[in-house]
Amino acid sequence: MNKIILQTDDLSKNFGSVTAVQSVNLRVQQGEVFGFLGPNGAGKTTTIGMVLGLIHPSAGRITLLNQPVTPHQNAALQQVGSLIGAPSLVPYLTARENLQLVARLHKGVDNGRINEILEMVGLTAAAERKVQGFSTGMKQRLGLGAALLHRPSLIILDEPTNGLDPAGMREVRTLIRQLADDGITVFLSSHLLHEVEQVCDRIAVIRQGQIVAQGAVADLLSQSGQSVRLKVKNPTKAGELLAQLPQAEVATNGAYVQVSGVESETAVAHLTQNGIIPSEVTVQKSDLESLFLELTK
Ligand SMILES: Nc1ncnc2c1ncn2[C@@H]1O[C@H](COP(=O)(O)OP(=O)(O)OP(=O)(O)O)[C@@H](O)[C@H]1O
Ligand SMILES: [Mg+2]
Repeated sequence: MNKIILQTDDLSKNFGSVTAVQSVNLRVQQGEVFGFLGPNGAGKTTTIGMVLGLIHPSAGRITLLNQPVTPHQNAALQQVGSLIGAPSLVPYLTARENLQLVARLHKGVDNGRINEILEMVGLTAAAERKVQGFSTGMKQRLGLGAALLHRPSLIILDEPTNGLDPAGMREVRTLIRQLADDGITVFLSSHLLHEVEQVCDRIAVIRQGQIVAQGAVADLLSQSGQSVRLKVKNPTKAGELLAQLPQAEVATNGAYVQVSGVESETAVAHLTQNGIIPSEVTVQKSDLESLFLELTK
């Protein structure tokens, strides 16, 4: 079992009569990229706000690096970096000057560290250029760099690729993977499945303030199972037969019948025993997108 770096227990937040977050139990392990996936309004930013001590929880506990985080006790947050939405940068200052400005807020961040960060986020060549001429992707990478200056062991990113074009998204994704390879734990929220699938080791899916799934991407997908599509002469009859199998969910579509919850061998054997021989059998693994839609519908 890997070491847990961030844990929430029954974390909840009500805004008046609106329950934004309800009994959320997250377990983020050291060194992983953890994805916090959910549709708009699901409670991602509210959860992150509570973890960062910006929003007071209505109930529940937060444990960061084995220390409780409360409004009165948040020393552990010094070891956390964060980037919520677009970074706040000074447009008429250079990349280096922006980092120097942030460095003043921390102890022990010298010019050597600033150079190291510029290198890490791929902005060494652009270091002396004014930020106002930067692409959105470059600004986002600089923002990430600023959040990393004080050598946090955990970095929390709320929708880090929001508003970026595909190239910018790829730059940020590559950087996130690099951070994890350097031993920094990354917690990132997103409503983009594709992104989370590509970059995260484990994910939690949140819907209407509640966690509906949590685990390794591969495990979640294998649990969500597969469906079998069969081409048959009489799809209606085949559908009726397949529906007799325990746990089968059947749909017909033109010349095809589709069944989930059943192994392909079982489906084919059952049809053949009843005089229907499929001319085509395709096993369709569910992807994260269908899992996400299923979990958040
Ligand atoms: N300050 C607030 N006052 C009242 N309601 C709020 C407040 N902040 C958030 N909410 C509500 O809480 C719920 C969760 O919002 P939150 O911003 O956490 O969702 P999100 O998952 O970050 O969504 P998005 O993908 O749109 O950023 C929403 O219904 C939202 O309207
Ligand atoms: Mg949000």
